[in-house]
Amino acid sequence: MRLVTLVAPPPIPRAAGSLPLLGHAVQLGRDNLAFIAGLREKYGPLVEITLQPGTRTIVVQDPELIRTMLTDLGPSLDKGRFFEKMGQLMGESVVTVAGPEHVRKRRQLQPAFGRAEIARYVDLMRGEADSAVDRWTEGEDLDVREAMVKLSLDMLVKTVFSGSINAETFTQLRRDLSVVMNGVGVRIMLPDWFERLPLPFNRRFDRARDDARATINEAIAALQATGTGTGDMLSMLMAATDESTGEPLTEDQICSEILTLAVAGTETTASVLSWILYELARDPAIESRVLAELDEVLGDRPVAFGDITRLPYLDRVIKEALRLHHTGWLVTRRTMTETRLGDWTLPPGTELAYCQHALHRDPAFFPDPLAFDPDRWLDGERSLPPGAFLPWGAGRHKCIGDRFAVTELITALATLLRRVRLELDPGRTVRPVARATVRPRTLVMRVRSRTAAE
Ligand code: HEM
Repeated sequence: MRLVTLVAPPPIPRAAGSLPLLGHAVQLGRDNLAFIAGLREKYGPLVEITLQPGTRTIVVQDPELIRTMLTDLGPSLDKGRFFEKMGQLMGESVVTVAGPEHVRKRRQLQPAFGRAEIARYVDLMRGEADSAVDRWTEGEDLDVREAMVKLSLDMLVKTVFSGSINAETFTQLRRDLSVVMNGVGVRIMLPDWFERLPLPFNRRFDRARDDARATINEAIAALQATGTGTGDMLSMLMAATDESTGEPLTEDQICSEILTLAVAGTETTASVLSWILYELARDPAIESRVLAELDEVLGDRPVAFGDITRLPYLDRVIKEALRLHHTGWLVTRRTMTETRLGDWTLPPGTELAYCQHALHRDPAFFPDPLAFDPDRWLDGERSLPPGAFLPWGAGRHKCIGDRFAVTELITALATLLRRVRLELDPGRTVRPVARATVRPRTLVMRVRSRTAAE
């Protein structure tokens, strides 16, 4: 427990290198991830940076203070710049709002992520993973990140719309959502005026977002006309009611939630999948253990929902990927009133942020932090202080899709790995890059069919 000191706390240092009008934009533009990660080595529990000139952003680096910010202070904080930007693009949804409205939206969405629902999604996810492998050819140089984004999007779109749209609409929607997602990644990094420029990039983004909304609206109208639930996520959202009015959600509300799920749940899963494939290719001993476990538990049959909790080694591999390659580089919050964080008192309107990627590589908590070692989790998380490992965040905004994501990861890996081996050129290392999420800069791997190669 943190004791409140009676003497004034030390002033919060400002990170070096801020320029008038630009703040830290130059360092961020050069290598945003290295800049944020470097703060950990140079400064203490809190450090101030300038993302938007005129606004203070405090990067919280101490695990206990991060935990306090997310849990104890969670209900009193707004979500901050990162999510505000998402809201401008997606509309109001569970990920962008705070306070009582967030609680309401989260309750409406929760049934779609129940255990029984996820159990139903597994066959759809496996079907998409098999279709992805069917499209790859022996010896092909595969852009793994792109392939994983496509696969994650397909898995999500199928679970949301399985019974509600036809194949042609599915292909179009997938195309539109992919443009929207890439656009969000770029726009989050750029000043607001960029979005108003008449550039092809902006026009393409706006058109894809409008077309995706139109497709979702048509699917809602078609379902309303038949009046029957199809068991997919869309039917569940349509069955939800707005607690404050008792009315069903409007088409616009449903659209915003679905677009949000596509953004929150696709890049993240795709990046983790890509990093796991990369790490397995770099360490054949780990890959062999994963395959041996799959053989032992599944034999010849495809992976099913019951297997998700029966693959402890694969589970540790995923946990280690969520540690070493976490997708979050700057999660924000904002104080709405004067707020006490540890020994410091922060005025209203202060932006707060933390970086999971850097937190999870801190040698104080993770010895030899850059080594990919699934067995560091053999004893679970017992030896870690609270707040040192936050793959899904914490508090009331903790990831709603955590179980869904783990199910996707296990289903996809158990399907892909047994059909193909993805090879990396010897000695090749891949660097992370932070856009909307931290992802591999480029990851090209050669496809080898298991039967052809072994
Ligand atoms: C490996 C994959 C994933 C990772 C690492 C991840 C991580 C996170 C984290 C750290 C947060 C908390 C953000 C905050 O503190 O504000 C979050 C929130 C959220 N995630 Fe995920 N996520 C993943 C997959 C998914 C999936 C598959 C979905 C949905 C299908 C999803 C939907 C959401 C939503 C809706 C929120 C906002 C929750 C709220 O504010 O109440 N995520 N995620």
